[in-house]
Amino acid sequence: MDRGPYESYLKKLTDPQCSKSADNDRFDCHPEPNANPQKCVARGCCWKSASANFDPEASYNVPWCFFPSDYAGYSTDEIVVTSTGYAATLTATGQWQLPYGTRIGLLRFELFMPTVDSIRFKFYDPANKRYEVPISTPEIQKKAFKTNYHIDFTKNPFSVKITRKSTGAVLFDSSPSPLIFTDQFLLISTLLSSSNLYGLGEQKAPLQKGGAWARYSLWARDQSPTFNTNIYGSHPFFLNLEPDGKAHGVFLLNSNAMDVDISPKPAVTFRTIGGILDFFVFLGPSADAVISQYTDVIGKPFMPPYWSLGFHLCRYGYSDTAYVKKIIERNRAIGIPYDVQWTDIDYMDAKFDWTYDPKRYGDLPSVVEDLHEHGQKYIMIIDPGIANTQPGKYAAYDEGVKDGVFIQDSKGNLLIGKVWPGTVTFPDFYHPNATKWWTKQAQDWHTKVSYDGIWIDMNEPSNFVFGSTVGCPGNHLDNPPYVPQISGNGSLADNTVCPSALHYSTSHYNLHNLYGLSETMATASAVTSVIKKRSIIISRSTFPSQGHFGGHWTGDVFSTWEDLHYSIPAMLEFGMYGIPLVGADICGFNHDTTEELCTRWMQLGAFYPFMRNHNTLGAPDQDPAAFSKRAQSIMKAILEVRYTLLPFLYTLMVNSHMTGVPAARPLFFSFPTDVNTFDIDKQFMWGSSLIISPVLTQGAESVEAYLPKGIWYDLYTSQMIGSTGKMIGLPAPLEKIPVHIRGGSILPLQAPAVTTTLSRKNPFGLIAAYDVNGSASGELFWDDGDSLDSYSADKFCHVAFSAAQGTLTSVIMKNGYAPESPLVITEIRVLGVAMKPTHAEVNGQSAKVTYLDHLLELEIADFSADLLSPLRVTWK
Ligand code: NOJ
Repeated sequence: MDRGPYESYLKKLTDPQCSKSADNDRFDCHPEPNANPQKCVARGCCWKSASANFDPEASYNVPWCFFPSDYAGYSTDEIVVTSTGYAATLTATGQWQLPYGTRIGLLRFELFMPTVDSIRFKFYDPANKRYEVPISTPEIQKKAFKTNYHIDFTKNPFSVKITRKSTGAVLFDSSPSPLIFTDQFLLISTLLSSSNLYGLGEQKAPLQKGGAWARYSLWARDQSPTFNTNIYGSHPFFLNLEPDGKAHGVFLLNSNAMDVDISPKPAVTFRTIGGILDFFVFLGPSADAVISQYTDVIGKPFMPPYWSLGFHLCRYGYSDTAYVKKIIERNRAIGIPYDVQWTDIDYMDAKFDWTYDPKRYGDLPSVVEDLHEHGQKYIMIIDPGIANTQPGKYAAYDEGVKDGVFIQDSKGNLLIGKVWPGTVTFPDFYHPNATKWWTKQAQDWHTKVSYDGIWIDMNEPSNFVFGSTVGCPGNHLDNPPYVPQISGNGSLADNTVCPSALHYSTSHYNLHNLYGLSETMATASAVTSVIKKRSIIISRSTFPSQGHFGGHWTGDVFSTWEDLHYSIPAMLEFGMYGIPLVGADICGFNHDTTEELCTRWMQLGAFYPFMRNHNTLGAPDQDPAAFSKRAQSIMKAILEVRYTLLPFLYTLMVNSHMTGVPAARPLFFSFPTDVNTFDIDKQFMWGSSLIISPVLTQGAESVEAYLPKGIWYDLYTSQMIGSTGKMIGLPAPLEKIPVHIRGGSILPLQAPAVTTTLSRKNPFGLIAAYDVNGSASGELFWDDGDSLDSYSADKFCHVAFSAAQGTLTSVIMKNGYAPESPLVITEIRVLGVAMKPTHAEVNGQSAKVTYLDHLLELEIADFSADLLSPLRVTWK
């Protein structure tokens, strides 16, 4: 009997590779929608329904069309040992039936072993140079003498497997799915060592991303954070916890549009549509160490100025300077600690960059002057689109045309899009003339308005028309054979520039995801040369390396309790991406906030490293002074708490700058063997010393919080909690966001003030919180707060504190900064002191002792000592 076209279909049904394939063993052979048995079999793949139910909420479900285990791949005869690692030439094998162009017949594989704890390996086309991501990574010249990993290969099909020597844990294993490499479709999978998986952003998603089928697609898009969509940034990096709590990281250095599929096997599949496969594996073994190794490659976070850790206030819709002044004055009048006022596109003349509206914003320069006189700073928005409608009259455009810095369409004409000012051109920030041209605009503008930092928005880049004002030519870059699962009706050009557009070095198809990074780099360089002090560049779109040049805010979040919660995993994942200066729009951006939501959001936001309240056009004001007296005083109180803690936060940021380890981090960073912490994203930590447990539910007056095993002290009352590692109900009336100090920590503090200019002059204090053994330690980094070379030229102080029974001492580890007037410490609190002392001495002089026996709290006051000289405090 002739079974016609079903012959092969039936074969695939009975083929044991297909019929026995459990859901979790599958790797998707038909990632596009509308798969069916015929299309699947035509690809040479297996078709079988899933045992699991379809989850309509999920971004991705069990594939019914999947690769048989003997699918076409690559093989090699020989793997050679090189001076830096291994290399092999791979040949395409098997019958190729996927509709994504022809395979590259010969691939080169190279594996480098640069350090004991890191590996890099690449698959590329040795015959034709392909696009590679233009971020600078360390040069690899030799092979590490000793490594903590094993490397194994299979030759046919070719696969690479990396395991941890000490435990055998899998760090990378490409064997479970075929390796595919065509010009515009590259696929590789790896097994995970557990389902505890983090990263793969930017997404609105829980912190812990493993365990279920999910697809995260990376293609920068002007898109309010929404579940299951690609949004502003692209970070092909994940951190995976191993069964024993060790951590490793995997980074795919590729900037093309891609899907990342997660399966419960557990495994991850990268499906990218260009470039090469260029992987890094970092062995940790702590999460801190993974991020430190990752940032060795992508660049350590920049050092923010001290003032940038203060409170920032902004909104879209300040129609004129009278409005801005009213906001500034009313928040000053109620004593809100507040360092930076921002303005959105409202200030611009017809929404043109580097201009201000002479009628509505005519006195902007004097508003900025007034901010400076009050020890405050000013930041304004700049969008990348440069209006092309006033040629001959608009320097930014005219000079840009002269310097040839704008993106061109595929025929070499200027590509015209549409953004706020109407039609615009888009700078190619990778053009060799671009930074100079951009710096000139930033310089000329600074002579008019002496800004202190720049907010760069709309840099995915966002475009209000499809591709350009005349659309896109629709070539192989605009319409590739495969488009990842992105928003915008499956079109890469939706809401942005045509992928076929031309930058100086390559197509927009390749550089799209780097647009925000390239603008950040150009802007940071411009601002540094103009201001000659530390500044901040806050960008909406980001890519690995962003943190080296600037920070990030998480875009157009909604004024909802849900988005209040999701701001935490967003902040934490950016910390893991080496971008520690991050925060969400406090009180929410889209829609109207409420007094309760805004109060809770100000409380949580007081623990974002970057703390800015920002609001959309047309929504009611949400600056602290806009609310009732009660809300104002709660907001002021939490801001005073933040300002009191700033020396500690600054110390954490210096640490980030030096090591990469983020200031705000998930609990599992500090408690890697406590499985209860692995998916916590409603709480987080500052360093390993503070745990923040915000209220995230309307009307709630308490929080069910997890306190890992150990001793914890309420930040406000010093009340001690000994936890065995359990959920604890914490009272949280509207006045309070629960924050606990971990026993064993010493926190440097400073009396708050209405600006950091003033608070930096206030006396310091310390809180030493004993652990079970009655000891504690901590540190302080201090410098002038805004010099460019404080850390590169060692112009800073580093003081290490330690406390044991009856003593607290400091050691001056580095003394490179001489303040104008001495830094004094005037107060020390020690928590967990079991026996009441009656006498205390600071550097041999007696000081006042107060002991609160119901709290086991010792307070030593009425002394003044130099913080930058060794301190010796004793009590008995
Ligand atoms: C979009 C940004 O995400 C938002 O923060 C800003 O207010 C508007 N653009 C207007 O500039």
